Amino acid sequence: MTGIDAYEACVNPAWLEVLRQCGLDAQSLAADGCWLCLDDGRRLLDFVAGYGAAAIGHNPPELLTRLAQDLRDLAPNLHPLGWSEAAGALAEPLLGLAGLPGGKALFASSGAEAVEGALKLARMAGGRARAIGFDGGFHGLTLAATQLAGSGFWRQGLPADADCLRLPWGDLAALEGALAANDVAAVLLEPVQGTAGARAWSGDALHRLAALCRQHGAWLIYDEVQSGLGRCGAWFAYQALGGPPPDMLLLAKGLSGGVLPVSALLYRDAIYQAVFARPGCAKIHGSTFGGNRLALRCGLHMLEALRGLDAPARAAGQSDYLRRAWPDGPFVLEGVGLMLALRATPRAKSRFGEQAAGALWLQLLAEGVLTAPAAHDPDALRLLPPLTVGRAELDYFLNACQRAVTALEEEATT
Ligand SMILES: Cc1ncc(COP(=O)(O)O)c(C=O)c1O
Repeated sequence: MTGIDAYEACVNPAWLEVLRQCGLDAQSLAADGCWLCLDDGRRLLDFVAGYGAAAIGHNPPELLTRLAQDLRDLAPNLHPLGWSEAAGALAEPLLGLAGLPGGKALFASSGAEAVEGALKLARMAGGRARAIGFDGGFHGLTLAATQLAGSGFWRQGLPADADCLRLPWGDLAALEGALAANDVAAVLLEPVQGTAGARAWSGDALHRLAALCRQHGAWLIYDEVQSGLGRCGAWFAYQALGGPPPDMLLLAKGLSGGVLPVSALLYRDAIYQAVFARPGCAKIHGSTFGGNRLALRCGLHMLEALRGLDAPARAAGQSDYLRRAWPDGPFVLEGVGLMLALRATPRAKSRFGEQAAGALWLQLLAEGVLTAPAAHDPDALRLLPPLTVGRAELDYFLNACQRAVTALEEEATT
């Protein structure tokens, strides 16, 4: 067996069926910048971009060239009994940009691995077990991350973990109540929730939340796996929102360029001292591939590329352009920087049906634009274009949206 038959037989036939129903079962033959080329001849403007991981576009030539050079370097890719120059070189600027100077960085391979690491360090550093997440949140699909996800969908068939508590999004009174017994190790949140359709905390709420965490001895963790590294119009989303720095900050997608898996957990020195600085504990947490040389080199190249692009300013500028051009109509454009969502208004739902966002998704696909339905909000489509997206592509997107809404209007009147 080869090709799609092998995938269907040996990987995930249920997923293939979903793709068939949406007309997305064609093979992606090539990807370049903001575009995907499918083997049925279609070109799609990719406003999903690996959920934001392809931060400077698919297959960015400069990054690929540099990684090819790194591959030829004969230094070991893995050297668990050594130390890595690239790790320090990447950690220092990341900690500075994240507002955690003097802190420490721990490198891993995926977003969920960074989330698990953060929860583990928070528990070890405080000797407390409980962790809090919020409705609408998404932190990956490993066990603890799933327990803190803001939708029960991800926990189907799993036993509940009594130490993981989920609170209504934005409910600071509920948080105060949950923290009152001083037994919570960590509060985990995305400053801008991706899967809920680019839903942002206010800076003021983040300040109040951070004060509550301090008062009750809980570590505050920002999951910026998707929102970090310029996407939200500042290096980190919490800065764009005017919030305070956390105790730990997680990043992944943008650091990888969508090419090599790499994630980072940035955290305060006090946590390092409580966990790693104890006698014999210098390697009490880590993983085989966490901090491998190629992944770190990829992170270094991406940071340089994002700085060269002035990613925060560029994301803010392109976001302003889209917002100014977005017409009043049945769908609104919301979000922060280039972490955006199209949301169906009540008018859209009364005109195009309860599944108005889904109908728009299909129409946009027919117009050659790929967006992502928001798993935690049936009324929203997520937009995560590469930060390199140009005005011509934004215009293409705007025109496609206009045609898609016109098509929905025509369908509704027939
Ligand atoms: C905010 C957030 N946190 C964590 C994760 C998990 O990252 P990964 O899929 O690399 O494990 C994701 C993935 O989409 C995410 O969006």
